[in-house]
Amino acid sequence: MAILNLLVDGQFHSGEALGASLGISRAAVSKQMSVWRDLGVELDVVRNKGYRLRQPFELLDETRIRSHLKPSVQAMLQGFILKQETTSTNDELLRQLKAGCSHLLCLAERQTAGRGRRGREWVSPYGCNFYGSFSWTFERGFGALEGLSLAVGVAVARALKSYGVEHVGLKWPNDLMIGPRKLGGVLIEVQGEGGGPCDAIIGIGVNFWLSPAHEAGIDKEVVSLYRYFGDAVRRNELAAGIINEVVLLLSEYEADGFASVVSEWRQLDVYRGQRVSITQHQGVIEGVAEGVDESGALLLRVDDGLLHIAMGEVSLRAVSHV
Ligand code: BTN
Repeated sequence: MAILNLLVDGQFHSGEALGASLGISRAAVSKQMSVWRDLGVELDVVRNKGYRLRQPFELLDETRIRSHLKPSVQAMLQGFILKQETTSTNDELLRQLKAGCSHLLCLAERQTAGRGRRGREWVSPYGCNFYGSFSWTFERGFGALEGLSLAVGVAVARALKSYGVEHVGLKWPNDLMIGPRKLGGVLIEVQGEGGGPCDAIIGIGVNFWLSPAHEAGIDKEVVSLYRYFGDAVRRNELAAGIINEVVLLLSEYEADGFASVVSEWRQLDVYRGQRVSITQHQGVIEGVAEGVDESGALLLRVDDGLLHIAMGEVSLRAVSHV
């Protein structure tokens, strides 16, 4: 990682200078650079100038993140795992749960098998974005978790707004949006008995910076904060902002459920009043989105009345007007 720390200023550094700073040969520098390239780090290599990060970024740093965490949040988190690479931060915490550990946070610089809802891949290149998961035990069982992913969306939106992303919105059930483009998402995986306590892994992905090549590999319209701000994101500060809001939300949710944030969710709803189509196992239904009920189900106005659509494996799309 040291070599990337020398490049985060976005300037060119010669192989010789990098080697001298690290006490290694130019050949060893070149070898390390090809490892980073294989990991998806985009580097410019120019004769007589050296190496430069195509998009300078701030590496995640536990001490810097912790310096922005609220004391109450630090107290609630029983562990903080920061991985350079993992299959998925959700997988890391599922393994920890099997070992009996909960109330943990896992962040990663890169995921090799990041996953989204409905079995989709979550594109997770090194150093560009936010990939984080929380494990949490809920005493009230599965039934109480129906609105959890919507509530977590509200928490992440709060963090993004206080960072200056004023136009962030939510798309039912759990997408973070800027206008019609997807900025991030929430994936919750639950373990436990129907009635008794259960453990949830709450995975969050937010696009801080995606290269044109990564964007092109995603089959929907996406946006990253870099495109929005035109500047590199202070990743440690924003990561801490997300962690603060999510941990506070999780403890609030345990007590009050989705009801405590339902009106905020409605204000962030980007599809309210729009004609949408809902794809379920049984087929496609079209109607007008009228927000959500107190449990987090989507309210869909159809010819016969108002449907309450529970989350499950469904997806929502805008219907384009002709
Ligand atoms: C979605 O919108 O489909 C949900 C995306 C969730 C992605 C995050 S990134 C951190 C965590 N680890 C994963 O493998 N997925 C979630």
